[in-house]
Amino acid sequence: MCWYFGQEMTEDIENIITKYRQGRREDLIPLLQEIQERLGHLPEEAIIRVGSHLGLSTTKIYGLATFYDQFRFIPSGRIHISVCHGTSCFMNGSQGIIDKLTEELKTAPGQTSRNGNFSFDIVTCMGGCYHGPVITVNDEYHIHVSQDQIPELIRKLKYIIEND
Ligand code: FES
Repeated sequence: MCWYFGQEMTEDIENIITKYRQGRREDLIPLLQEIQERLGHLPEEAIIRVGSHLGLSTTKIYGLATFYDQFRFIPSGRIHISVCHGTSCFMNGSQGIIDKLTEELKTAPGQTSRNGNFSFDIVTCMGGCYHGPVITVNDEYHIHVSQDQIPELIRKLKYIIEND
């Protein structure tokens, strides 16, 4: 994840778009994925630029991109947590984890905390159904997570941020 703005970000967007110079509409999702991988989210500037390159309206791109829960339109927190809410994890208590994270972080799914330290989102199956509920903390997998573990997890993560 990168925290930068302005010229450097514009150059990164342009460099990625250059790789898709044919401007085919089927390139939309891989293009957005690559930009998000580089920038950590999809800023409005990227949506506008991709739209003009592929001949798609920004409304259309937002509409398609929000269909995929992998895309973020605001920067992630320093620590980003993803909670699997697929069927198996749901059956094993993922809703309780989501509720506990919302309470502990005072942040709704899909949002970033005011101080920029935390963000979390809800995703569908992470491929570890037998080990659910599954969450990731900055891409590190945690399995068999229970909602009772969340306050301690957040306490440890806050400690890491404060002492970083
Ligand atoms: S449903 Fe959560 S890992 Fe598959």
